[in-house]
Amino acid sequence: MINEKVRKAINEQIKNELESAYIYLSMVAYFHSINMDGMAQWMRVQTKEEVAHAMKFFDHVQQRDGRVELQPLKPLKTDWSSPLEAFQDAYKHELFITGKINDLVKLAREEGDEPAGILLQWFVSEQVEEEANASKIVQTLERVGDSGPGLLMVDSQLGKRGSSE
Ligand code: FEO
Repeated sequence: MINEKVRKAINEQIKNELESAYIYLSMVAYFHSINMDGMAQWMRVQTKEEVAHAMKFFDHVQQRDGRVELQPLKPLKTDWSSPLEAFQDAYKHELFITGKINDLVKLAREEGDEPAGILLQWFVSEQVEEEANASKIVQTLERVGDSGPGLLMVDSQLGKRGSSE
């Protein structure tokens, strides 16, 4: 049986992960609208990853006889002024998620919830990767600036991200 405080906090995190998927899917729509289909592909893969993250938490609660209670998602941003601004938002969002994961790690430790602690270790490593991915793209886009050919090159590169990642 899952610790009650941890169950509630994980329920909150299921919402955060689904919110991540929703934000990134909104970016997919934005990237298609400006014909950056490679960036859209990258974000499509990211969207699927976020749903998978939510389901990892969902299954953890479920398997430990806890009740999953889904929560409403907050209103969504649908437009950005540039690909750089969108990826900056993505990076900031990943920093926010890392903070939430760290809070969960602390809570699981305080409550002596060993299984949740083990699950969360996977997320700690995952967040290192998530931050690095978004940060690298932000830095590349900063270098490219307003250059049309540069943006098309980044778009083509990001479009190579496969759904197996
Ligand atoms: Fe599930 Fe991108 O954090």
